[in-house]
Amino acid sequence: MTQQLFHNTAICSPVDRGLPLAGIAQGELAHFNNGALLVEDGLIAAVGDEKQVRAAAKGKGAGELEEIDCGGRCMVPGFVDPHTHMCFAALREEEFALRLAGTPYLEILRQGGGILSSVRAVAAASEEELFANTLGHVCTALSLGTTSLEIKSGYGLDTENELKMLRVIGRVATESPVDIVATFLGAHAVPEKYKTDPDAFVSLLIDEMLPQVKKQNIARFCDVFCETGVFSIEQSRRMLQAAQAHGLGVKIHADEVNDLGGARLAAELRACSADHLLAASAENIKAMARAGVIATLLPATAYSLRKNYARARLMIENDVPVALATDCNPGSSFTESMQFVIGLAVLNMHMTPAEALTGATLNAAYAINMAAKAGSLDQGKQADFLLLAGATPAILAYHAGVSSVEKVYKKGQEIRRTP
Ligand code: NIG
Ligand code: FE
Repeated sequence: MTQQLFHNTAICSPVDRGLPLAGIAQGELAHFNNGALLVEDGLIAAVGDEKQVRAAAKGKGAGELEEIDCGGRCMVPGFVDPHTHMCFAALREEEFALRLAGTPYLEILRQGGGILSSVRAVAAASEEELFANTLGHVCTALSLGTTSLEIKSGYGLDTENELKMLRVIGRVATESPVDIVATFLGAHAVPEKYKTDPDAFVSLLIDEMLPQVKKQNIARFCDVFCETGVFSIEQSRRMLQAAQAHGLGVKIHADEVNDLGGARLAAELRACSADHLLAASAENIKAMARAGVIATLLPATAYSLRKNYARARLMIENDVPVALATDCNPGSSFTESMQFVIGLAVLNMHMTPAEALTGATLNAAYAINMAAKAGSLDQGKQADFLLLAGATPAILAYHAGVSSVEKVYKKGQEIRRTP
């Protein structure tokens, strides 16, 4: 059996103790200044100080040992992006211009644009085109250090096109080296046809789409866009309870623009995560802490929509584990870069670089139920890691607008060229 020994590196990683990291623990990383990582069959066999890891390598007996000098670079876990809408068919640059000229995001949707314009583009695209576009965004993310991610459906809004999106996401998962989790987001917007009777659309989602999603086993989570003019608290509760009855994990786009109580609903349902939370109340944030719901924060969306950022400090002070994600989509946040997200989290949400790294790795892995294999450099997990262009993870926020990820490794293999 071939072993690889990565040495001459400063290792920084959150430590997985079986739960997402909350409060003070979110900012505590393991550091090994003279570190080494031993990899066997793509998994981490040992991690720590070089001397100890070398001893572990010898102890493992026969077999070749390939030594890789990391040139003194800082090693961190590969990023996990737990909230994306990367499966889409067309950009929406004209809408960006409208927003710059002052039209609010939800007003564009109300007029039949926004998400609904992406729905028309997905309906018109072939499965092959959709696959090529999605794979392109996944490869961009990988080249910037994202080794695992989530992708939502939600630009289909009818059974045929929602299933088409989920099939495409499944194919990208098979054909790219990135680990990908699919989320069913049929409740992303109310289609024009159901404008006057959104409850009937929720019934269609529950009675027709959800059973198909379950039968074909093509999504692990179900999500809802709970927002003024989109889905109400009652409709979101109905949808997510039905998903739970089918055994899917649940997430919620909560309090992105208005405080409807989405964070409280996430707590009530013991959702895996509540995402966005720009307008969430302090009381509802506390309810999330009591229910063990992860806050997945998307600062690139606040940046792009020119909104106030989510209150990450308040969440951390109240022991809510914070995860970070891009929300990559053609409307409210068009970026595949977790490095950009970390920069915004540090400089605009006042998270420390260590808290942001935990948010972009281990807590993010918990937010998509992937922590058993990803999110930290712990023994037994996949050897998904990055070598950075600086001495500490702070370089990710400090050096803005460029990539500070020099090398990306997935299961111990260097990604030289994305497929
Ligand atoms: O998370 N808010 C709803 N969904 C996405 C935006 C999708 C879009 O505009 O296409 C979000 O911001
Ligand atoms: Fe989103």
